[in-house]
Amino acid sequence: MRNGFILRAGYGGARRAVAAHLKNRSKQTEPLKGSTLTEPKTYRTIARLYDLLDLPFEYFRYRRIRPQLWQGLAGWVLDAGVGTGRNMPYYPKAAEMTGLDLSPAMLKRARQRRQALGIAVTLQQGNICATGFPDGHFDAVASSFLFCVLDDSLQLAALSELRRICKPGGEIRVLEYELSAHPLRRAIMRLWAPWVAFAYGARFDRNTGQYAQAAGLEIVGDRFVHGDTIRLLTLRAT
Ligand SMILES: C[S@@+](CC[C@H](N)C(=O)[O-])C[C@H]1O[C@@H](n2cnc3c(N)ncnc32)[C@H](O)[C@@H]1O
Repeated sequence: MRNGFILRAGYGGARRAVAAHLKNRSKQTEPLKGSTLTEPKTYRTIARLYDLLDLPFEYFRYRRIRPQLWQGLAGWVLDAGVGTGRNMPYYPKAAEMTGLDLSPAMLKRARQRRQALGIAVTLQQGNICATGFPDGHFDAVASSFLFCVLDDSLQLAALSELRRICKPGGEIRVLEYELSAHPLRRAIMRLWAPWVAFAYGARFDRNTGQYAQAAGLEIVGDRFVHGDTIRLLTLRAT
């Protein structure tokens, strides 16, 4: 079912999406800014190709890592930056899930995945820097590859918002890339970086953990889950 979903983009669809992406990128002039954020054009056009482009990484890397992001979480849980819903198969059974994303195009894919998997998850459009959820609304919050997409100027605002909407003592988990310390791997990642910036508006060097203290969060868990390039941070309100 999932493969059928991915392949429906088809070759013609993929070509049109790449053309639209190139056109939109050339129009993209304004950097993202705080609460005035609108859907990133990057995701409006890449949504149709997202699963296809990510397929090799999903298969060989992420499907082993994603369960670790959700393990043991229960109650009201937020998937921040839900994207096309790639985490859905790994949501904990004991959780009432909500997925939030800025991009309606990505959310449309997430709704299709929700239906294909037959699971219950509330999907909502919103900006992770100003979600509108009440204080302490969630028992836990998790995100995968969201912070690599957020501009440096938004990292603190986003972490602070996660702290606000997570109940005191609740876990905030952040799964993110970082540049390898190994010279060869680092050089390969630097070669990839222009493509990653172009296709996903993402960077490998956000180093989100550096904003934890300022956001009123303590790092209670910090480990690599793939080589020294994908890190799982666990944070709690101080
Ligand atoms: C690289 S994708 C990751 C998607 C998904 N979490 C995954 O693991 O495949 C980043 C997602 O973050 C979303 N995003 C970007 N800026 C956002 C913001 N300010 N608020 C909420 N979502 C945002 C994008 O629309 C996109 O769906």
